[in-house]
Amino acid sequence: MRYRGVPQQILPIVLIFAVIIAVFVTGRILFVPESFGELGHYRARSIDENAAHDISYAGYQVCYDCHDDVADEKAQSNHRSLSCEVCHGPAADHAEAPDEVLPEIPRSRDFCTLCHGYNAARPTGFPQIIPDQHNPGKPCLRCHEPHTPEPPHTPEKCSACHREIANVKAVSHHASLECTRCHEVPPEHLSAPRSARPKKPSTREFCGECHARGADSPREIPRIDLAEHGQRYMCWECHYPHSPEAGK
Ligand code: HEC
Ligand code: HEC
Ligand code: HEC
Ligand code: HEC
Ligand code: HEC
Ligand code: HEC
Ligand code: HEC
Ligand code: HEC
Repeated sequence: MRYRGVPQQILPIVLIFAVIIAVFVTGRILFVPESFGELGHYRARSIDENAAHDISYAGYQVCYDCHDDVADEKAQSNHRSLSCEVCHGPAADHAEAPDEVLPEIPRSRDFCTLCHGYNAARPTGFPQIIPDQHNPGKPCLRCHEPHTPEPPHTPEKCSACHREIANVKAVSHHASLECTRCHEVPPEHLSAPRSARPKKPSTREFCGECHARGADSPREIPRIDLAEHGQRYMCWECHYPHSPEAGK
């Protein structure tokens, strides 16, 4: 059947639109959830459904109620930023019924290396180890307290950081002198060297304590006339103090 004056391609277009509208309307009736739209573009019932999930994490405050000893210790330690359940897993069940459910205790090396295994992407200064080289095969807990881990010991020897000077001095005329005979070293220098500097000798008289004629020092030490020798120059302008030579 043809209508006069209506172009023949109109009919298929009308049909296509009719099908699209039919699909949309049935889709809406069949598939759009009931509570959709009650709270705007949102399925209102999902709120109740999520609220009905079992709670599995208790939150770290809850642990304080019964484990204040561990919690207080941890709060002062390098692990203070870690919540208990980061390591012990979800523990709400345990907090409800501590006699029936016990939380996990992560004792494996693999657990600690999740955070401490070397990874170049981690921030500079974050304590990292190379697990294959850091006491392989031994449990981390043998040496580290998980609630109060200590930073590594800072090197106590000057040579840990001043290797070259120590090597040179070791074979010099000053081999028998401790570094601290000439440098007063604040303890903080050993852990934060740039924040606290040792003192360096600053007078000719300092060297004169051993080398001046008449000084009260062992007799084998060579002597000079402190008033005359090297004139007004500092001794270390001519003698390297870590490997002094009498010169030619
Ligand atoms: C209502 C008190 C209570 C609360 C709250 C509580 N615990 Fe416990 N927890 C206990 C008791 C009791 C034990 C058993 C002690 C024992 O066996 O010596 C225990 C044991 C543990 C253990 C050792 C498990 C084992 O195998 O030895 C861990 C780990 C632990 N709790 C972690 C937590 C964490 C993490 C939280 C916070 C999410 C928490 N607890 C909250 C009472 C509690
Ligand atoms: C870095 C991971 C880590 C964090 C964070 C952590 N723990 Fe532990 N916890 C451990 C490990 C590992 C052990 C097992 C220690 C062992 O066997 O020597 C342990 C043991 C325990 C025990 C058993 C008894 C004991 O003291 O050895 C309790 C209780 C406990 N943790 C509670 C807590 C609570 C409460 C917090 C939060 C304040 C917490 N832990 C935070 C790793 C952690
Ligand atoms: C046999 C004892 C021992 C074992 C086992 C051990 N460590 Fe250590 N760890 C040490 C000592 C000692 C230091 C300090 C090293 C230093 O002073 O340079 C240290 C340092 C560290 C540091 C600090 C590194 C830094 O540069 O700041 C981390 C992190 C660490 N260990 C994690 C671990 C982890 C994770 C494990 C298990 C996979 C583990 N350790 C196993 C003894 C041990
Ligand atoms: C979720 C990540 C995480 C886990 C898991 C973790 N640590 Fe740590 N650890 C840290 C953070 C964060 C610090 C503090 C770093 C800082 O002070 O910059 C730290 C500090 C340390 C330090 C002190 C190192 C230093 O130089 O200050 C040691 C040792 C250490 N952890 C050992 C362990 C051991 C052993 C385990 C396993 C029981 C463990 N950690 C599990 C995050 C973690
Ligand atoms: C942890 C590494 C470390 C240790 C350990 C260490 N130092 Fe240093 N020291 C440094 C660094 C880094 C500097 C250089 C600071 C700069 O140039 O900015 C420095 C500088 C110095 C200076 C020069 C200060 C100045 O004002 O020019 C003296 C002297 C010195 N150290 C002596 C010592 C002695 C003596 C010891 C042992 C008792 C020692 N240091 C242990 C890292 C260390
Ligand atoms: C006999 C005294 C004496 C002894 C022993 C000595 N120093 Fe020095 N040190 C000096 C003097 C003096 C200076 C200053 C030199 C200058 O200003 O040119 C100095 C300078 C330094 C500096 C500054 C950088 C440099 O090379 O000039 C460092 C770092 C240093 N000493 C480290 C050490 C260490 C580490 C030891 C032990 C291994 C040591 N010193 C032993 C007298 C001494
Ligand atoms: C604590 C005593 C003591 C102090 C302080 C001291 N020295 Fe010496 N000095 C010695 C001794 C010991 C010898 C080596 C004597 C020997 O070889 O038997 C020596 C040797 C020397 C020599 C001779 C090297 C040679 O070729 O024979 C010179 C130069 C010298 N010191 C310069 C200095 C200067 C410069 C200072 C100050 C920065 C200084 N000393 C501070 C103890 C000291
Ligand atoms: C201008 C450079 C100069 C200065 C500054 C200087 N010396 Fe010397 N020193 C020399 C020379 C060159 C010799 C070797 C020739 C000599 O014995 O006069 C020497 C030799 C020495 C000797 C070896 C003496 C012996 O009998 O073997 C000692 C010890 C010494 N100096 C210590 C010092 C002390 C301590 C100071 C600072 C108070 C100092 N010097 C300042 C240049 C200097």
